[in-house]
Amino acid sequence: MASHTFDPSRYAPELLARVADGWRRMADDERRSVERAAHLAADLAALQASPALLSAAARVIADEVRHLDVCSTVADTIDPRPPLRGRPRDGRRLELVPRAPAGEVGVARTLLTDYAIAKPSVAAALAAARAACREPLIAWGYAELLRDEARHATFGATAATWIVRRWPAHLRRNLWTECLAASAGIGLRPRVAEAEALGLLPAPTGCTLPAWILPHLQPLGLTHGPANEPAILH
Ligand SMILES: [Fe+2]
Repeated sequence: MASHTFDPSRYAPELLARVADGWRRMADDERRSVERAAHLAADLAALQASPALLSAAARVIADEVRHLDVCSTVADTIDPRPPLRGRPRDGRRLELVPRAPAGEVGVARTLLTDYAIAKPSVAAALAAARAACREPLIAWGYAELLRDEARHATFGATAATWIVRRWPAHLRRNLWTECLAASAGIGLRPRVAEAEALGLLPAPTGCTLPAWILPHLQPLGLTHGPANEPAILH
């Protein structure tokens, strides 16, 4: 899939192992994202969402499957591992577990927390890492992930806006408060300072909302009030 080669002789083996481990953790995140997107599409269907929203949800599933493949490709190219005894290791394997529909409130929380709020921060982290990175393979990985994040964020905001379209103002405010609090711990993983400085792994950017997402959040009732501290905006 990746057309870029990677020369491991430029780095210490210990650093390479930690970078590959970081990309495998990112692959695990993407694997969970596939499952989340698949459940979300089913939940939206159960809530009788429009064909346009269902189509957008289906595209998110396809994107996350590709992201999993991208992260696995980068990790395996940096640090190829021998097959596990008895069967080949497959970092791209999906293990989707069926679950009951989440219902309107649960779907709104997921759309807001994991998409409309989290994806812009992820995009900022990927863009910063890509700017620092001098390795074509890893820059390719960032570019593949980055090109979908803004669309996923606006999908989350659009679908959440549809979910809460009849909610009274106080319930929308409660949703914001819950989702902002829940998003504070998303994406925390072991830090590798040397790899982050070289752009080989993305560094976390904290709970911030870049300006481009704000117009998409306003229909949801985002205001500059107690539930939306200025610190989350930049
Ligand atoms: Fe993804």
